[in-house]
Amino acid sequence: MEVHKPIKRHKALQPLSRQHHFGLLFGWKIRKGFAKNIAPERMMKYASWFYSHEIEPHFNDEEKYLFPILDPSHELIERALKEHRRLKRLFLDTAHPEKSLHRLEEELDAHIRFEERILFNEIQKVATQEQLDKIEEIHSDIEKAPDYEDPFWDE
Ligand SMILES: [Fe+2]
Ligand SMILES: [Fe+2]
Repeated sequence: MEVHKPIKRHKALQPLSRQHHFGLLFGWKIRKGFAKNIAPERMMKYASWFYSHEIEPHFNDEEKYLFPILDPSHELIERALKEHRRLKRLFLDTAHPEKSLHRLEEELDAHIRFEERILFNEIQKVATQEQLDKIEEIHSDIEKAPDYEDPFWDE
C-alpha cells in the first residue's frame, strides 16, 4: 500500500497558507450568515471589504511571486489563474449578492484546497532557494487586516 506522507509547507509559503485559513473562515462566516437569515446585501458588504483587504493582495502576491515559478502554460497555473478571475468576478458582482455569496463560499474553499493540496506542493518542489527567499522577504512584513466593523456571524 502506498502511503502519502503530508508534505511540510516550506516556511516561505507559510504566510500565504495562513491567509488561506482566513479564506476558509470567510466561507464559514457566510454559511453562518445564511443560517441566521442575515440579509445578503449586508453580507455582500463584508465580502467586498474582505476582497479588498485580504483577497486582492493575496491573489496579487501569488500571481507576482509564486505562480511564475512554474511555466505560464502549466495546467495547474492555468487553472489557478482561471479560478482567480472567476472568484474576482463573484466578489465584485454586488448586483446578485445571494447568488454570488453562495458560489463564493463554495468556490473559494475549493480554490484554497486546490492550492494547499496540489499547487503549493508542486511549486515548493521546483522552486529555487533564491525564489523562496524572495517570497519570504515580501511576506515578512504582512500586516493583519483590521477587524470588520459588522460581525454578523457573531450575532
Ligand atoms: Fe490563489
Ligand atoms: Fe491562495
